[in-house]
Amino acid sequence: MTVKELEKLLSEMSLEEKVGQMVQRVASEMVSGAIVTGPEGIVEPKKMSLGLIGSILNTRGAATIHDLQKEFIEKHPHHIPLLTMYDVINGMETIFPIPLAQGCTFSPETVEDCAAMARDEAAAEGLHVNFSPMLDLVRDPRWGRVMESTGEDPWLNAQLGKAMVRGYQKKGNMAACLKHFAGYGAPEGGRDYENVELSERTFREDYLPAYAAAVKEGCAMVMTSFNSWNRIPSTGNRWLMRKVLRQEMGFDGVLISDFAAIDELIRHGIAEDSREAAKLAIEAGVDIDMQSNAYMNNLVDLVRSGEVDEKLVDEAVMRILKLKNDLGLFENPYNGSPEDEKRLLLCEEHRKKVRVAAASSFVLLKNEGLLPLKKEEKVAFIGPYADNCNIHGSWTYLEHPENNVTIKQGVERKIGTCTYAKGAYVLDEGQKTRMYDPEERAVLEEELLREAVELAKTADKVVLCLGEHRHQTGEGGSRASITLSKGQLRLMQQVAEVNKNIVTVVFSGRPVELGQVQAQSQSILMAWMPGTEGGNALADVLYGDAVPQGKLSMTIPRSVGQVPIYYNCFNTGRPNPTGDRVGFIHGYIDESTKPLYPFGYGLSYTTFDYSPVTLSKTRMGKRETLEATATVKNTGSYGATETVQMYLQDVKGSVIRPLKMLRGVQKVFLRPGQSREVSFQITEDMLRFYNADMIYTSEQGMFRVYIGGSSDTENAATFTLE
Ligand code: NOJ
Repeated sequence: MTVKELEKLLSEMSLEEKVGQMVQRVASEMVSGAIVTGPEGIVEPKKMSLGLIGSILNTRGAATIHDLQKEFIEKHPHHIPLLTMYDVINGMETIFPIPLAQGCTFSPETVEDCAAMARDEAAAEGLHVNFSPMLDLVRDPRWGRVMESTGEDPWLNAQLGKAMVRGYQKKGNMAACLKHFAGYGAPEGGRDYENVELSERTFREDYLPAYAAAVKEGCAMVMTSFNSWNRIPSTGNRWLMRKVLRQEMGFDGVLISDFAAIDELIRHGIAEDSREAAKLAIEAGVDIDMQSNAYMNNLVDLVRSGEVDEKLVDEAVMRILKLKNDLGLFENPYNGSPEDEKRLLLCEEHRKKVRVAAASSFVLLKNEGLLPLKKEEKVAFIGPYADNCNIHGSWTYLEHPENNVTIKQGVERKIGTCTYAKGAYVLDEGQKTRMYDPEERAVLEEELLREAVELAKTADKVVLCLGEHRHQTGEGGSRASITLSKGQLRLMQQVAEVNKNIVTVVFSGRPVELGQVQAQSQSILMAWMPGTEGGNALADVLYGDAVPQGKLSMTIPRSVGQVPIYYNCFNTGRPNPTGDRVGFIHGYIDESTKPLYPFGYGLSYTTFDYSPVTLSKTRMGKRETLEATATVKNTGSYGATETVQMYLQDVKGSVIRPLKMLRGVQKVFLRPGQSREVSFQITEDMLRFYNADMIYTSEQGMFRVYIGGSSDTENAATFTLE
């Protein structure tokens, strides 16, 4: 349709029908012409026939959606199709690593590829909108949703967020929805839905850039966040939505509330009732009300009584109609088909891709000679994750998790056999998760333990497969302690008493405390939640058919007391270079200030050497480009990929500046003995920040450029910006 035709359609719609476009409901099933109650809500057939909804969420399946859409369009007074929306966070049916693990690939190409796969499978299932990417910056691993973020770095999040938007939207048949605008990743104490206290400087400098980058990349939708910032809940924050998002960032797409977030303005305490909540939300510019009754029940009346200008409704509806039009819904309202589902879901090509993606997301934290394993060695695979198919991230609705490959299956396929003992349950008896505990506890813990210790005695090496439950992370999955369960740590202790050759593979949706793991393992591999091909990818890496190349997208603290801890922090007036406090300097009396493993860290089976950084010049004018170079050499015996990272430091500014800021990444493959020059271009815009007067600009003076394989590199050169 042309814009004129859309405007004509809008002008022919009644106020009720217009408000209907702004209402989204859960429609979980269609039974004989009526949509029945889903877990979270109900869509009555009457409302449908009056055209009083515009989109649905949480329904999947080409045939189901086709029937629902067909009936809806027929009944709708203007035959306007529904938009169908879903959370496809780490894949639809072929599951790739969780976003935090995707962050560890440091690879926009891999991330775009995964997003494209998710798009193809989701579109095959009849969906139009994906509630992804989540671009909330995260610094507190207690927060359950760190698994949905690509990590703690604003620049990396921006690169990977853009890649996801491209992947989802490239074919024009799916819209991405970035979330959660804004600052949801910084809840106080890591408690989900908690208030966010950040200065405007920190908010703008660190938290907003990734959202802005995705908007610039053309992301079609934005979702408001549950939290308040500056004491105003986002969903009713006119300044944030109209000024920052729409005016400053230039977003002209559809803004949707998070689930029931409009009505939540009442409990936040900024709205008296649902009517006032609806008024605040539409004034803030929220186009679609996800699942609360606020718009459905109040908006018509608010307009009729003159409290809300109908113009606001018209603008919102026009944006929604435009999105439907851009996605081609007026020509073909049906994405996908059962044939597409059969062809694409869990297809061989997708499985191959997620296997490679998973292998490149694993982070080798420690390796004192045990890895890679050799096929002739007697290896015991022990632990609740050694033969566990529940290795898909928490935002995954799989009917058949048994399609996920376990480590045991992966090893059996690779070397023909796998000696295994479960050893422990993932959770301690009674330990809570965000949802339910599907673990069967048929065998006594003592028995599991005994069997595992006996097996460990007979092995050359033990691969201990430990981790968090997938439902210990995700929405509503915040934890006050971030340790592995007591049962698993006891297993580790007892195995370590009989066998010192321990490789620990850690499954988790967040950085966890690894003190005991660190002390009792010779090698540690972070596997995160690797998805469908997890077991095959792990077998590839453990047996050396793939070499680890992941780098941490989030700092691993020594203990939860250090949280929040992140690499791009500041010096103090009393810095503490060693991390161990002596006298009156920065830090703790009972803990180091250094993390266990910093952002950007990750080992390989080979080693890399970096030459000192050289610069094309040492003084740079504001309109000039400077080139920083280091030669990277593979000094070990495996061909491998290194993630070369470039960090900048603004040594002195009108406000304090981070010790390091990631501003460039290049992945290079090097054969043993091979070296390569790696160069980064530095331009003035990379040096800008909010100065003391809150003006976004750069300041003259000295800068350091670091090039290395981790954020703790000291390999640097300095230049002056004139
Ligand atoms: C609530 C979550 O915060 C959001 O991320 C998600 O997209 C919606 N529910 C819809 O499922």
